Amino acid sequence: MAKNKDARPPIFAVSVVGLSGTEKDKGNCGVGKSCLCNRYVRPDADNYYSEHTSVLSTIDFGGRVVNNDHFLYWGDVSHRGDEGLDCKIQVIEQTEFIDDQTFLPHRSTNLQPYTKRAAATKLQSAEKLMYICTDQLGLEQDFDQKQMPDGKLNIDGFMLCVDVSKGCNRKFDDQMKFVNSLYSQMVKSKKPIVVAATKCDECVDQNLRDLQAFVTSKKNLILIETSARYNVNIDLCFNALIQQLDKTRGKPKTVSYLEAFKVQ
Ligand code: GTP
Ligand code: MG
Repeated sequence: MAKNKDARPPIFAVSVVGLSGTEKDKGNCGVGKSCLCNRYVRPDADNYYSEHTSVLSTIDFGGRVVNNDHFLYWGDVSHRGDEGLDCKIQVIEQTEFIDDQTFLPHRSTNLQPYTKRAAATKLQSAEKLMYICTDQLGLEQDFDQKQMPDGKLNIDGFMLCVDVSKGCNRKFDDQMKFVNSLYSQMVKSKKPIVVAATKCDECVDQNLRDLQAFVTSKKNLILIETSARYNVNIDLCFNALIQQLDKTRGKPKTVSYLEAFKVQ
């Protein structure tokens, strides 16, 4: 059958998830979800921000970017396939925004705990704007204003981030407990999941080995070793998920963090 040249490229929505919450849950710093999204969507050094705060005032939580949700719309990326099969990837980050007065999670319309909420495949938020960086909050008019299309998205796949660095005031075992319960919710959706080991530039070998054991104990899970800081394997982890979403594409060759870092 002749291919319809005018056919629009398919669009896939990816939800980036991983341990989030108050300082009690996640320690002094996050696992790297925002940085991974930032590197994928806007990779160049001028548009990469290493800090994305989740502690917000009530005003910023209610602004059009956060829009009273615990998720962010990061915009979309045009993906050029090897065989010219293009597609678009819309990127969502599931996080938990903390009130800068009470240090408790902000109250959103969705009252489910993170592990349930982040596994959702239907997201809605009327007139929500694309997130760019922390400074944008409250100064939305000074930044590119792009809306989340139609105010809703259906999630096609998940990027599960697991921080394999030493972490700040957080035990790796506690992170894995959270990841296990998040995974058991996500798996119900039957959507493909790729595990991104984050902060591999500061990798603790034992943490990576424990994560490898978790991945091999599950069916159809792929692990990619990434560093958003040095932009290593960021495209690769999304490409691995795109291949799962569209099996007509060839599997990307997976390479370890060290191999990928060397060829940079
Ligand atoms: P929440 O959304 O608040 O749950 O956090 P998050 O998962 O989005 O984490 P975020 O991306 O904000 O990163 C938290 C901290 O880890 C920041 O200080 C980042 O600079 C740091 N970080 C993120 N990615 C990397 C990385 O690849 N390497 C190193 N060394 N640090 C990183
Ligand atoms: Mg974040």
